[in-house]
Amino acid sequence: MSEFDTLLVTGGAGFIGSNFVHVVAERTPARRVVVLDKLTYAGNAENLAGLDVELVRGDIADPEDVGRAFQATGTGGGGGAENIAVIHFAAETHVDRSIESALPFLHTNVVGTQVLLDAARERGVRRFVHISTDEVYGPIPDGVFTPEDDLLNPTNPYSASKAASEHLVHAATITHGIDAVITRCSNNYGPYQFPEKLIPLMIANASEDKPLPVYGDGLCERDWTHVRDHCDAVLAVLERGRAGATYNIPGNTHKTNLEVLHFLLDVLGKPRSLIHHVKDRPGHDRRYAPDGARIQSELGWTPSRTFDDAMEETVRWYQDNTDWLERVRSGEYRNYYERHYGERLKT
Ligand SMILES: NC(=O)c1ccc[n+]([C@@H]2O[C@H](COP(=O)([O-])OP(=O)(O)OC[C@H]3O[C@@H](n4cnc5c(N)ncnc54)[C@H](O)[C@@H]3O)[C@@H](O)[C@H]2O)c1
Repeated sequence: MSEFDTLLVTGGAGFIGSNFVHVVAERTPARRVVVLDKLTYAGNAENLAGLDVELVRGDIADPEDVGRAFQATGTGGGGGAENIAVIHFAAETHVDRSIESALPFLHTNVVGTQVLLDAARERGVRRFVHISTDEVYGPIPDGVFTPEDDLLNPTNPYSASKAASEHLVHAATITHGIDAVITRCSNNYGPYQFPEKLIPLMIANASEDKPLPVYGDGLCERDWTHVRDHCDAVLAVLERGRAGATYNIPGNTHKTNLEVLHFLLDVLGKPRSLIHHVKDRPGHDRRYAPDGARIQSELGWTPSRTFDDAMEETVRWYQDNTDWLERVRSGEYRNYYERHYGERLKT
């Protein structure tokens, strides 16, 4: 393998990053993988168990930590990274937490991205794949699908920090000629997702016959992508994407939160009476709907999984991995859950 024979994966101990490392190990086992991850509450080294990867614990916003990660790939400063690609997943990712406290989002998502871009430029990294989100478009009216050239209109600190990081990546391609590609995927589901997010939260609560806290009327609509489809798309973008381009990654499955919950409850054999409507998230975007025409026409990529099968498989994964779920919920998760949902669930 000549190109991209080494991958520096940031955030590789988180949900999507760890799934990506699993997919790389299966598809292209000759590739060397170094993971740089701060192991925040959302990162878990256990997600990489059994894989031949080097995990460097560090902060993407700290140039020394980033330097250590590059050293682990076999490159020091001043060049030598011609076959290396950076796949940048690391981020603070939970919208509700960004509403409580935005600064950690600016530190990691904005400053961290710039530190990585600087380090990649100094070392002559071959390609930088920046993982972004369809949330940067803001709320989209019914019947409309957003192509990549649409205006960015983020409405919460998380999506604003992701949009800011995209602008920095774009600026680095124009100003410094970095070979960078940006991806914007829709909502992911699958194994190893931290249980503050909708799908594992609801599976965990329903399995214990606890109420499912649904924001507002539950009619916010999202496009759902299985995490492995997302990872396949990132590999396609890494290998064949156009330098400087941005690609939406849609799952082509549009569902309201209530539709998703009804599906989960049916699979679990639990009653719909577990659904408990709670006070809505401030500024909650009603609908996202990324258009997948570009990635389909340029790279021949479309999602390969159907929602029903892949979501049922996901429910089974959480049922088969209750130890994992218990361990990740034993940290600061319970404090967060109580702080965030305690009062909401009383009304
Ligand atoms: N989850 C989704 O539905 C979704 C959809 C589209 C795009 N994305 C994007 O995909 C990427 C990964 O999302 P995820 O859901 O896997 O997130 P996650 O919260 O599960 O994982 C984030 C990982 O980043 C690490 N991290 C956080 N701050 C760090 C720092 N300063 N330095 C180094 N590592 C740090 C964490 O320890 C964790 O391992 C993010 O960039 C996110 O914006 C997510």
